[in-house]
Amino acid sequence: MALWGGRFSQAADERFRLLNDSLRFDYRFAKQDIIGSIAWSNALVRVGVLSNDEQKKLSQALNELLNEVEANPKGMIAADAEDIHSWVEQQLIAKVGDLGKKLHTGRSRNDQVATDLRLWCKAQVIQLHELLTHFQQALVLTAEDYQTVVMPGYTHLQRAQPITFAHWCLAYVEMIERDQSRLSDALARFDYSPLGSGALAGTAYPMDRELLAKDLGFKGATRNSLDSVASRDHILELLSVASISMTHLSRYAEDMIFFNSGEANFITLSDKVTSGSSLMPQKKNPDALELIRGKSGRVIGALMGLFMTLKGLPLAYNKDMQEDKEGLFDALETWSDCLQMAALVLEDINLNTARCKEAAEQGYANATELADYLVEKGIPFREAHHIVGEAVVGAIAKGKALEALTLDELKIFSDKIEEDVYLILSLESCLVKRSAKGGVNPAKVAEAIKVAKMRLGL
Ligand code: ARG
Repeated sequence: MALWGGRFSQAADERFRLLNDSLRFDYRFAKQDIIGSIAWSNALVRVGVLSNDEQKKLSQALNELLNEVEANPKGMIAADAEDIHSWVEQQLIAKVGDLGKKLHTGRSRNDQVATDLRLWCKAQVIQLHELLTHFQQALVLTAEDYQTVVMPGYTHLQRAQPITFAHWCLAYVEMIERDQSRLSDALARFDYSPLGSGALAGTAYPMDRELLAKDLGFKGATRNSLDSVASRDHILELLSVASISMTHLSRYAEDMIFFNSGEANFITLSDKVTSGSSLMPQKKNPDALELIRGKSGRVIGALMGLFMTLKGLPLAYNKDMQEDKEGLFDALETWSDCLQMAALVLEDINLNTARCKEAAEQGYANATELADYLVEKGIPFREAHHIVGEAVVGAIAKGKALEALTLDELKIFSDKIEEDVYLILSLESCLVKRSAKGGVNPAKVAEAIKVAKMRLGL
């Protein structure tokens, strides 16, 4: 039975009910709805609506229901109830009879759903925070394992300068750490309880909303009842954080797909995260990574979808807002799955060290070094840049790397070039020279790994 039958003389059309009912997805709030209801029953005692005895009976029944829900979290999906709030009330009445009908005094589903939503999001933030840490840990440990592997760094997908695989891993640690910090920022802003805001104008009972908020583990109570029931910007924020993070995961996936390609052949992905082709027996496809890259689209889509839903809504609550949930559930679940997959891919990764080094040596990734060398010999950088450009053309014509040219061949481009040039053209030198903060110098990278390990509790 619906919660609002009194004013109606006709039953709802079945097709309307299907569109309107939200239990099939908001069942996820069962726990939050029950916990919120227990807190509400205590608040009702404080304003004299319930006796201690009545409250005890209600909370006993609600706790019983909580246990049932924990044992079978999806058990209510097919129940005949409009939404999770109706279902909880229905179950309560089944357990304690008419007393259960008192619980909704002074409360509306509008402040109730807003409260459930925030409580649910808080629990998600904690879990996602852990997954973000876990992925960073996997990256740092991989960086440590492959600290000495030199590979080409790219700009425009052209070999640019040599880097190490560890330095590449640590770049993603930085991005994921910022995602984590954005997640904490979002929580700090939405950690306030809307309960006691009523349908829109505030509850008519003299509730201590701060105390109620503390009961529920919130930092405090929201300040304006209209805002409390009408706002979903915290969902937009969470979806934004998820979208940004999925963008990072997608770029990570794209890098790895390229590293794993036959053309690059820097890494080999494990059989555990790849799949075969039904036609081509030789294939081992990087599906896990492609799905991470692909799924970033639907998370960003959920964010865009909610923007569209919210942008024209008048204050306060409108049923449009029920549309905040499915996108959110899907986006956070997808993000969580992809974070786990991104870490899993690293677990059994195999680096082709020799091939990485060979690629770093090819492609004139040390051309900048030669220019810097000429600068040291007193040639202005712009001129040095031009000379090296010519040297690269010359080397390409000979099919040789810069360091493979003889001294005489090098001297054609500048008589400032001496025997000591070969030292600076080595990969080692390219790396070592970049010792300013954030650079690829191996000692600096080792230090960065140490710091990251400490921060991540490794
Ligand atoms: N299922 C609803 C939602 O998700 C709960 C709030 C219903 N409020 C109302 N006034 N009909 O938004």
